[in-house]
Parts: sequence; structure tokens; C-alpha cells
Amino acid sequence: MLEARGLSVSFGAQPVLRDIDLTVAEHEFVCVVGPSGCGKTTLLRALAGLTPISSGSALFKGRPVIAPQTELAVVFQDYARALLPWRTVAGNVALALEARNIPASDHAARIAPLLAKLGLSGDGDKFPSQLSGGMQQRLQIARCLAQEPEVLLMDEPFGSLDAITRQQLQDEVARLAKEEKRTVLFITHDLEEAIYLGDRVIALARVKGNLAGRIAEIVDIALPRPRQQLATREDPRFLQYRHRLFRHLE
Ligand SMILES: Nc1ncnc2c1ncn2[C@@H]1O[C@H](COP(=O)(O)OP(=O)(O)OP(=O)(O)O)[C@@H](O)[C@H]1O
Ligand SMILES: [Mg+2]
Repeated sequence: MLEARGLSVSFGAQPVLRDIDLTVAEHEFVCVVGPSGCGKTTLLRALAGLTPISSGSALFKGRPVIAPQTELAVVFQDYARALLPWRTVAGNVALALEARNIPASDHAARIAPLLAKLGLSGDGDKFPSQLSGGMQQRLQIARCLAQEPEVLLMDEPFGSLDAITRQQLQDEVARLAKEEKRTVLFITHDLEEAIYLGDRVIALARVKGNLAGRIAEIVDIALPRPRQQLATREDPRFLQYRHRLFRHLE
């Protein structure tokens, strides 16, 4: 579904990503972890067509991604800036429908089930400033789903949320990805979040010397689904994955 082939990105003379090869299969949930500054956001943006690639390629269904496309939806870490403050909750979701040229008369019928799915029924007339952080992030996810993308690209989407909200949203995103059969590439610096959510975890690391990020290891996560916050995290295999991947974050 999504592929990087020998993908490298430089900003000026500074190489940031070097020779990244990865594939994300249809309906797969792939997590990328790595220390701050190793190029995670750059990788996601390059795959989304938001950052120019220096060499190699980013492919969606075998075709080069050279500009943003509606089949690829991006969930940004900074939900406050991703939402339009002067639009209501429903109005923010409508944005994605407008982009798809869906007639306004159909909007309400499409928005209601999405808000329900993300626990925002009854909040449609509120403005983003009247929502909690977790609700704003759920709204951003609702808007991305309204885009009906095949792929969700998520960049540390729960980074600034408290631990409880974060766990709830992890479970909601895992459930949505399965129910709606989406393909997900999920960036996080939280190793446990990556193992908890992923079918596979890709560890990015910085190459000493030139400081470019490269893939250090790819691990298949053979934990049963649906996953559970307590049981899954206490599974001995969970701890083995954590031990194995931890060194890449040091
Ligand atoms: N537009 C840009 N121009 C110049 N350098 C950039 C640009 N964007 C990112 N960089 C540099 O590329 C490197 C990787 O940045 P990136 O944001 O991809 O890291 P990251 O892994 O997402 O980090 P974090 O975990 O802190 O979000 C950093 O050294 C950063 O300074
Ligand atoms: Mg980042």
C-alpha cells in the first residue's frame, strides 16, 4: 500500500534520512519509533507528499507520491493548530467533505455517525476551544476519517495528552483501524505505545557521524488482538519486544 524505496531526504547540506526501505501492507498497522530528531516526522511528511525527497521514492499503491493526496490523511501532533478555531466541531469535519465536493445537504448525515464513532455526539455545535485536549484530538481523527482515506499517517498524535486519555485513544484508534479497515503508519517516541498498537515496529536511529536517520531494526509484533491495556502490557512477549527495541532509543 505504502512504500519507501531507498528514500533519502536532506535539508540543504544536512542529510536527515538515508536509504529508507519500508513497506506497509494493506490494513497493516505499522509504528515507527526513534529518538527525537532522528527524522520520524520527516519520514511521515515525505510519505505524505509534504516534504520533497532528495533521492529514492515514496510510493502509494506503486505510484510515486509527489504531492499530498486525499487517500493519505495526516493526523498531526499539534491538534490545536490542525483545527480551525472559528469553525464548530461539525464545521471542522465538514472541511474534509467540502474538499471532496460532497454537497452540503449531505453533510449532516455523514458527520453525525463520525462524531458518534469518536464519542463526540452532542458536541457538534461547540468550538474547538470548548473541548478538552483529548476531544480535540478525537475531532482531528474524525475529520481525517471524513476524508475516507485508505491510509492514516499519524505523527505522535497522543504526545501531549495525559496518560489515561492517551490509553483510551490508543484503544479507539486500534478499534477504528480494524473496523474501518484502514492502513496506518503511526509515529511515536513511546516504545510501549508502538508495541501495544503495532503489527510491526520500525526503529529509526541516527547514524553517528553524518547524523542521518536510518532503519535500525524492524520487529513483527505477534501479540494477539484485540489488545488490552493491562493484559497485553504484562505479556512476557511484550517485555521481550521492549527489551529488544529499547537500545535504539538510547
Ligand atoms: N524544514 C526543515 N529544515 C531544516 N531542517 C529540518 C527541517 N525539518 C526537520 N529538520 C531537521 O531534520 C532532523 C529530523 O527532524 P524530524 O522533525 O524529522 O525529527 P523527529 O524524529 O520527528 O523528532 P521529534 O521526535 O523531536 O519530533 C532534525 O535535525 C531537524 O532539525
Ligand atoms: Mg517529530
